[in-house]
This record gives sequence, structure tokens and C-alpha cells, in this order.
Amino acid sequence: MCYAIPGKVEAINQKIVTVDYYGEKKKAINEFHELSVGDYIYAQGGYVIAKVSPHQAQEVLTAWQELFFKLQEIDEEKSRFLPDKKARENKVVAIFDRVNNGHQATRDDLRYLLALKKRADLELFFKAANFLRQKYHKNACCVHGIIEISNYCTRNCYYCGISCLNKNIKRYRMSKKEILDSVEEAVVKYGFKALVLQSAEDKDYSIDDLVDIVKTIKERHAVLVFVSFGEIGKRGLEKLFEAGSRGLLMRFETSNPKIYEALHPGYSLESRIEELKYAYKLGYLIITGGLIGLPGQTDEDIINDIYLAKDLNTDMYSFSPFIPHPDTPLAKNPPPDEEKVLKTLALVRFTVPKEAKILVTTGFETLSPSARKEGLASGASSVMLNVTPLKYRPLYSIYPARAHEKDSIDAQIQETIELLKSLGRAPTDLGI
Ligand code: 5AD
Repeated sequence: MCYAIPGKVEAINQKIVTVDYYGEKKKAINEFHELSVGDYIYAQGGYVIAKVSPHQAQEVLTAWQELFFKLQEIDEEKSRFLPDKKARENKVVAIFDRVNNGHQATRDDLRYLLALKKRADLELFFKAANFLRQKYHKNACCVHGIIEISNYCTRNCYYCGISCLNKNIKRYRMSKKEILDSVEEAVVKYGFKALVLQSAEDKDYSIDDLVDIVKTIKERHAVLVFVSFGEIGKRGLEKLFEAGSRGLLMRFETSNPKIYEALHPGYSLESRIEELKYAYKLGYLIITGGLIGLPGQTDEDIINDIYLAKDLNTDMYSFSPFIPHPDTPLAKNPPPDEEKVLKTLALVRFTVPKEAKILVTTGFETLSPSARKEGLASGASSVMLNVTPLKYRPLYSIYPARAHEKDSIDAQIQETIELLKSLGRAPTDLGI
């Protein structure tokens, strides 16, 4: 969704346009559109994706205006952070004060926060993270859609239910027509402005097939396309960028090379990181992160994961709990507790308060029914809705009983809008 309220172009400096949204100024990159000052545009993830007529823009702006300011008010109210005298003596508040004053949290700070156990300390930590989210991101909540186009996989990831090691599942591959129909439904019927196309590492889709699909989508629709096809090599990234995709979703899974190599025999963390760095250089918006609760992982590893994501210039941080799948080598390993996941999200906010969009992942929602509400109230600022055709969704079984596996797109949108309204968040993405 990301209803992307239209903005008015106020200034143009080569590719960078300054856009006004009800008085708020944002910047966006314009690559494809003939623009003049005074034009109205839609932007997503800092990219101009469409020019709209003044008439259409005014209509949407008028419809949104009242709600926009009302939601901002609710959010401001809910994200106030006014620790009382006793709380002011808490070390959490001392760390918050430094971060709030523009200083970097130290590794010791992060260690301290990640180790918190007492309810009162945790509440302060989560509330402080929510304050920082509001301070820098206002009430914007990115709502991307994801389409999972194939579960055929050549990789052997030990945690993953659709890896080539699992012989017990039914495989599927959506045809080009099915993919384009799903994209059309998401964009035209439901108004999504940013979509992730995801696939297992299915060698039956050549890069040229994927390029053809992305190109056709970009010809037909004003939508920001993220690709998520695993490691496709530098040439693959270049070709898909040329085709018009501007985002890459690929987790590095863990920053610990020993854990990485134990869980992906024959593959190296280094090559994955190389690809993420190259994608950023090409101009992709990066969504990445790691799995929380992998066997052998320590708190220090989680902190390193956050630092690695930061070093990779991540736009949206995607940290998910590991959830055991019965038909994988990690079937007997427990998932992490919910609190650890929530602490990780809040910790990302403390580490990169201004820059980070932070996703509440489907994995977290699967672990905890209140994940979205709690995550969004603890520093997170984004959600993803699954717009894969319902008949395929249960087959993309990276772990069992995934949240929203059976929910129609309609139902997911209803639920999301209700929740966002109650929190004072707007499903918008106003750029950078
Ligand atoms: N638990 C949580 N996340 C998983 N993924 C794969 N298997 C699991 C699991 N058991 C995630 C990986 C991968 C993404 C597509 O799915 O992080 O990058």
C-alpha cells in the first residue's frame, strides 16, 4: 500500500527534487519523469514513481488532510517520553539521553540494553525507542506488498523449510502471467506503491526471464519494485536495475561467518555481503538483516548483525526470529523468546535512530500475535503484507503456520489500517 500522499515539487536540483507534504519537506530522486516546480508526484522509498495531475492530487490531499493531522496528533500523544524522577536515574534513560542528543550508542550501551530483563527497564527501553522513531520518522509507516513467485530452491539453508534438502513439500512456480496478474491486483485494485518480488533460488527463472517480468511491471505500473531472488550475482543485479527495480531484499542471515558456514555448507558469508555492497553502489535501496535465535548465536552476534546492517547502508532493517521447521536439520532447535526479538528492534532504533526503517517481520508475527502492535510501539516503522495468490501461500513454507497464510489481501489491509489508525500511524512513505 503505502498510500503515498501526493507531494508538490518545490525545487529541482538535477535528479533531486524537494517535495512538500502539507508543509513537511522531503527529498526524492527523479530518474524517469519530466518535472517542473509546482507538479504533483508520488514518491516511494525516496524515488519519484509517478507524476499525477493537479486535480487528482488535490482530491487525494483533501480526502487525507484531516485524517493526516489527526493521526499525527494521536501518534505524538502516544510516543511522548517523559520519564519520572525515579526513571531518570535508570541507566536506560542515561543511554537514551545521549542518543537523543545525537551521540552514537556505544557497544557497551547496546550490550546493556540487550541484556535487560526487568519489566520496568524494558518498558523504558521500548518507550524510548518509540520516541526516537517518532522524532525522526513522524507517523509514517511503510506498507509494502510481497509476492512469493516460486519455492523451487537450489540452496541448502539448514533452517529453511523450502531448501532443496526438504523432499516433503510440493513445489510451485508462478507463470509470468500469474505474476503480472498478482502485481496488477496489488497495484490497481489495492493501491500498493511498493512491491517485493521474492523467489527461492530457482534456476529455472533465468535473469533474462526476471528482467522481462520487472520491465513489464515498470511499463505497466507506477510502483517501486524490490527484487528478492537470493544471490543472483553482480551482473544479475545490474540487469535488474536497468530493468527498473530499485530495491533489493536479501538478508545476510548472520554476521558470524562460522554460524553462516555451518548453516549454509558450501556457501560463504563474504560473497553475500559483497552482493549487498554492490547493490547499494548501483543505487538499490537495501532491505537486509539477520535471523535471531540461530543455534550458537550470542548477544554479541546480534549486536554485530545490527552493525553490519548499518555498514551496508540498509534502508529497511529486517530482523526475524528463527522458527524451527520440522523437515529441516534445525527441527529440534527452539525459537528465541519474543522479548529478544522486540529488544533487537528497539536496539536497531537506538543504533540508527534517524536512518532506519524497521520492519515487523512475518516471522515475528508468527511467533507472537501481538508482534505488530508491540513492534510498532518499540521503534519499528514498517510492515509487509502478503499478496501472493492464496493457493500458493501455504507452499512457501519457510517455517510452519506463517502469519497471514490464509488471510485474503482485503482482510490484511483492513486489519492493518485498523491497527495503524489506533496507533496514529499513516500508511505512507513520504521519501527521505
Ligand atoms: N525461520 C525464520 N526465517 C526463515 N527464513 C527461512 N527459514 C526461516 C526460518 N525457519 C527466512 C530467511 C530468508 C527468508 C526468505 O526467509 O531469513 O532470507
